[in-house]
Amino acid sequence: MAELKPSIIVIFGASGDLAHIKIFPALYSLWEDGFFPDSFFIAGFARTDMDDETFRKTILDALNVNCRKKPINEDDFLNFSKHIFYLKSKYDDESSYKELGKFIKSKASEYNIPKNIVYYLSTPPNVYIKIIDGIQNANLTSSEFKGDNFSRIVVEKPFGYDYESAKDLNNKILSVFKEEEVYRIDHYLGKETVQNIFAFRFSNAIFEPLWNNKYIDHIQISALEPIGVGFRAGYFDKSGIIRDMMQNHMMQLLSSVAIEPPAIFHADDIRNEKAKLLKSIRPFSLNDVKNFAVRGQYDRGFIGNKSVISYKEEKGIPPNSTTDTYAALRLFVDNYRWAGVPFYLRSGKRLKKHKTEIAVFFKKLPYSLYGKDGMEKIKQNSIIITIQPNEGISINFGAKTPGFKMDIEPVNMVFNYKSSFKLSPPEAYERLIYDIIVGDQTLFARYDDTLIAWQFITSIINGWEKIEPPVFPNYEAGSWGPKEADDLINADGRLWNNN
Ligand code: BG6
Repeated sequence: MAELKPSIIVIFGASGDLAHIKIFPALYSLWEDGFFPDSFFIAGFARTDMDDETFRKTILDALNVNCRKKPINEDDFLNFSKHIFYLKSKYDDESSYKELGKFIKSKASEYNIPKNIVYYLSTPPNVYIKIIDGIQNANLTSSEFKGDNFSRIVVEKPFGYDYESAKDLNNKILSVFKEEEVYRIDHYLGKETVQNIFAFRFSNAIFEPLWNNKYIDHIQISALEPIGVGFRAGYFDKSGIIRDMMQNHMMQLLSSVAIEPPAIFHADDIRNEKAKLLKSIRPFSLNDVKNFAVRGQYDRGFIGNKSVISYKEEKGIPPNSTTDTYAALRLFVDNYRWAGVPFYLRSGKRLKKHKTEIAVFFKKLPYSLYGKDGMEKIKQNSIIITIQPNEGISINFGAKTPGFKMDIEPVNMVFNYKSSFKLSPPEAYERLIYDIIVGDQTLFARYDDTLIAWQFITSIINGWEKIEPPVFPNYEAGSWGPKEADDLINADGRLWNNN
């Protein structure tokens, strides 16, 4: 990959967790791998009172915990840190944006570089609008800052709180930036394994012909985490898992595994197909919400052998909270390829195992040569795409056990990233930040797929508001989730893939 263009990256909310845990570690790794030219600058824009040196020190501390290049070499960091500056600012204060304008101009003229600017919103979403107004009012996207250069905006999830607020936010962003300048981050799209879904489907003649309702029985998409709400109570209690995971990551996984092949492998062609796919999800009526959308909240329990508290006991969570920490859905994609194939989605916190996977189950044999007994023993074939951990793909099929009898047992054929490529993949944020500076939107959500996903999810949220919530908590920490989620899939004669 080539060296990136000179650029100035402005990080709003630079003193916050996301910047320290994800953004700076990715920037540092890209820099250490030689992708940044000498003329690149990072301006941290945040409210905390500190100077450049203190800010740089906080970054070093964060890298030593969160960066895949840790332990950080001090000389290397010293060189990197010369590119980092801190602007103590207020999000609704005109003079802060004037200072930012001066900073950009001074760096551009001092180093004789174009004003290629990335405005990165890494703040809580309630200040997005203030920042966009601030950028606009200070003319930081005017021709003086554009010309032949680029100015791009990066927006972190959540993109809105529901369909209406997502639409308002999109309209606001698009009143200042053009769609081709907007990079909505869904970090799942930066994961190697998620990108590999396309490679698996579209570069192998043996799988794609089977990828339809003639051969596939059903698909399960799971994103299960043993972690709890952590320090994010304020955010999470307002979102719940339905907004935090289902609206974005899970919808992206669903669309990646189910879209039609695009005409060409180009950002808008892929995103057109995703929008089409998401539009084909059958809308949920209130009855569907009751029957096919399960919610849960974790109780006390054990993760491994460590005892953990319930959601309602977590710091910052109201003791009567009815927020969902688990959700499971059964949905249908009404199109030619997927008609009649159920998709089961589940995601939750404080679950037994950390695993994110897409499990594709093929139809049962129409007939067994080995009698009734054989039929029961022969398992459905499946392809398990493991997004994390142990990134890889396994294909499960039946094989004869050694011996004189014709006994069939399921076996696995496994591809594992680490053992095949002897490399650990770059962090999702590295790939995404690289693409933002290069100007490739393939791995970013577009306004229409975001809104279509919100439309579907909002119908569930609205439905949940109308019906009595279950008595929470309804699953033990360290379990596989609420019983209702098992009932959801068992009612169709199927089981969750809990291996
Ligand atoms: C984030 C959610 O987007 O994704 C978190 O806000 C979740 O709640 C995280 O834990 C999961 O990401 P990953 O990359 O660890 O699967």
